[in-house]
Amino acid sequence: MNNLVFVAGARPNFMKVAPILRALEQRGSPLGRTLVHTGQHYDPDMSEVFFEELGIARPDAHLEVGSGSHGAQTARVLEAFEAHLLGAAPRPRGVVVVGDVNSTLAATLAAVKLQIPVAHVEAGLRSRDRTMPEEINRVVTDALAELLLVSESDGLRNLQREGIDPARVHLVGNVMIDTLVRELPAARAADAPAQQGVAPGAYALVTLHRPANVDSAPELERLLRFLGETSRRLPVVFPAHPRTRARLAQFGLQQVLAGFPRVRVIPPQGYRSNLGLMASARLVITDSGGMQEETTYLGVPCLTFRPNTERPVTVTAGTSTLVGGDLQLAARLVEEILAGRYKQGGPVELWDGAAAERVADVLERAWG
Ligand code: UD1
Repeated sequence: MNNLVFVAGARPNFMKVAPILRALEQRGSPLGRTLVHTGQHYDPDMSEVFFEELGIARPDAHLEVGSGSHGAQTARVLEAFEAHLLGAAPRPRGVVVVGDVNSTLAATLAAVKLQIPVAHVEAGLRSRDRTMPEEINRVVTDALAELLLVSESDGLRNLQREGIDPARVHLVGNVMIDTLVRELPAARAADAPAQQGVAPGAYALVTLHRPANVDSAPELERLLRFLGETSRRLPVVFPAHPRTRARLAQFGLQQVLAGFPRVRVIPPQGYRSNLGLMASARLVITDSGGMQEETTYLGVPCLTFRPNTERPVTVTAGTSTLVGGDLQLAARLVEEILAGRYKQGGPVELWDGAAAERVADVLERAWG
């Protein structure tokens, strides 16, 4: 039997592998499946909770690479995943990677050097900002992968511009939206807003974790003060990534937060709780890639605290605005949203809950 090795390592990967594994399972696919967790994310609330909630089978192997510098983390995955592939019997027919994290790039490198072909799910996205580690991961992964599975049409244009053979490229839609569609009823039923003491439609949800926003004390303080000002208009719920939480402590910024009791910093949330909070928010403030797309699907206004995006459809067709570091613009948009004058957004092609079926079709045709 042809066996495929799926790789997941960090929080934004889990909701992307889950629907593909499920689609293959449900159609009784002849393709064998092994799941490898690199261990890039290891806190229970960054990893385990997603496996439980999304019904992902326990990984067949856990590489336990943990945190480190980009070089060290990438190198550890490369070495450990190469060993995994060399030990696998029979030899894997292909490796499936998702997203743009360090584990995505490292697993791809390990596989192609052993002449095992790679399928990249969420191929073709480009921010054109090489200061972002994810952009490096995207460009290199796409150069090396044999199958490029694209979530939105911008991805097709980007790959064409890079001279990638169109025979390798397949527009399949957004697998992360498959997970959203499936989980939304349960997420709504769990009533996450009530658990945070806020009313549906009457709070802002905030997530910030990118180095550019949280690794500099003055920048993080400036953003916190903006959240504080926003909290005078509506309560702010802020699930903090471990990196962000560590910086708040390191920079002594809890004191700033103490001046704004309507900003509630809470632990990272599980999938359903975060989705429930997002779906009922009046507005979302984020630097996450995934949440830009999820808010577009949900029709919830999203202020993206980044200067650029690899997901421009969320701005042109969706509900996101790139705010960069312009807090005056952000404040103006908050007022527009509260006054009901902000753009509504619309649907995106193939973000329909069936992308994983199309991924499964491509994998079976190519490697079945
Ligand atoms: C990674 C991805 C990023 C993604 C984000 C989502 C890369 C380059 N970045 O960033 O694209 O948006 O995941 O969460 O792959 N930490 C913990 N516990 C954990 C994981 C991390 O405490 O379970 C802390 C550690 O201090 C670690 C830091 O977070 O050093 C950063 O983790 P890392 O995996 O390097 O990158 P993220 O910022 O999580």
